[in-house]
Amino acid sequence: MDMIFDTHAHYDDKAFDEDRDELMEKVFSGGVCAVVNQGTTVETSRFSVGLSKKYRGVYAAVGLHPECLDENSVKDIAAIRELASCPKVVAIGEIGLDYYYDVPRELQREMFIRQLELAEELGLPVTIHDREAHGDTLDILRKYHPKGILHCFSGSVEMAREVTGLGMYIGIGGVVTFKNARKTVDVVRELPLERIVLETDCPYLAPVPFRGKRNDSTYIRYAAQRIAEIKNTDIQTVLEVTRNNAQTVYNVKEVEI
Ligand code: NI
Repeated sequence: MDMIFDTHAHYDDKAFDEDRDELMEKVFSGGVCAVVNQGTTVETSRFSVGLSKKYRGVYAAVGLHPECLDENSVKDIAAIRELASCPKVVAIGEIGLDYYYDVPRELQREMFIRQLELAEELGLPVTIHDREAHGDTLDILRKYHPKGILHCFSGSVEMAREVTGLGMYIGIGGVVTFKNARKTVDVVRELPLERIVLETDCPYLAPVPFRGKRNDSTYIRYAAQRIAEIKNTDIQTVLEVTRNNAQTVYNVKEVEI
């Protein structure tokens, strides 16, 4: 059995509206043992909690994504705090900084920090999104040193070393299979497998040979195969070590074999 742990998915996305139930069955009979569905708003966080109640292998992260912030976000923290007390919530996420989008940066930083403080208070890890904001992300991580995952990692080897040195994990997904993924390949080569977790970010970022199509957790084996090649090991080792890492960071004691 493959025993894939997908640390970052968005099965609430409308891309799954037509066949979500069928697909979840396919995912959990197709070598996937656990999925952490990420919140981006109060609504999708609530949806994540709902999925975690419905499917044994699904866990939830709840949080406000930088791309989804507005003037109401500060008061949304109360709803996130309440959702975080649900039984299968394993993280605050996804939170962070996205300077590609037009959301005011001051608001992004404020909400990132408020949610890091919430995670610290609740004793939960975080899942962090960093797009075109490496400098500010690093500054904030150095100051608050949360536990958790820097997802869809797009920084340099130096940044990966610093972040993992702070005790965090790096999330690697379909991008590692792309032809132009030299930076990600370098990061995977230089980091110990013990600091890497696997993720889809589905429905986005499907690996080669499905690039551009709808992604799902079963496709993680293509990223795992590529990581195995880069690190000169076999895919089962990659799946096993990254699964253990995921269970450690999310404090998921047992997964269904
Ligand atoms: Ni995501």
